[in-house]
Amino acid sequence: MNIILLGAPGAGKGTHSEMLVKDLGLRHISTGDLLREEVKKASPVGLEAKGYMDKGALVPDAVVMKLLAEAISGTGKSGGFLLDGFPRNESQAEMLEKELSSAGISIDRVLYLNVSEAVVIKRLTGRRICKNCAAVYHVVNMPSRKEGICDKCGGTLYQRPDDTSGTVLRRLDVYRKETEGLINYYKAKRILKEVNADLSRDDTYALIRESLGGK
Ligand code: AP5
Repeated sequence: MNIILLGAPGAGKGTHSEMLVKDLGLRHISTGDLLREEVKKASPVGLEAKGYMDKGALVPDAVVMKLLAEAISGTGKSGGFLLDGFPRNESQAEMLEKELSSAGISIDRVLYLNVSEAVVIKRLTGRRICKNCAAVYHVVNMPSRKEGICDKCGGTLYQRPDDTSGTVLRRLDVYRKETEGLINYYKAKRILKEVNADLSRDDTYALIRESLGGK
């Protein structure tokens, strides 16, 4: 099964990807993670992407598409994958379709995580991530047992540079202008399911599983 997780920054795409990947054995492809990897390596792609990411803007389509194509090329027809944070606009959606159809694969389901802005602002400004294993926490909703330390590996937790309140507002604006239109794009293709992502993590996940027909 090939799935796209669509939703505003902080809707819970990363959180639920982790759960779905574990339960369904899918390959997780997050363009945000791929870009942050390049930034960490200080590669030419990373150096170009960082300026856009820190401002809360989208990285140019051609840069993201190259990373995405490389990630998808390893998936083959079996197993399935989960796209988290891609596509982000209609031109990326069209490029994705082209890329997949040349490999004889298609998207089975688009899950739209519908979340309110007030919820997202609280979630993102409180998010903390492990520097070592990338596990995600929230200072109020999902705190680590020991403040600033990862429960899973003992690594140090940090705040993403784009999770400060000003940049979060900018990301939400970019989402409204560039990405929200994809809801109707995939509705027209009859593969979109909407899930209330304002709920707790477990309640949202139960709805996600239900929308996948218990698969
Ligand atoms: P990316 O990394 O994709 O960020 P995003 O889409 O802004 O989404 P987030 O990772 O912030 O949120 P999420 O929905 O994954 O929420 P999470 O599960 O972590 O992209 C970053 C940047 O890279 C972009 O701004 C852009 O510059 C660039 N980029 C990436 N893809 C691109 C593309 N295709 N084209 C161009 N540029 C691209 O949850 C957030 C917090 O809430 C966590 O603390 C979590 O613990 C908590 N939480 C989650 N769900 C719940 C719940 N149900 N209840 C309570 N707490 C919850």
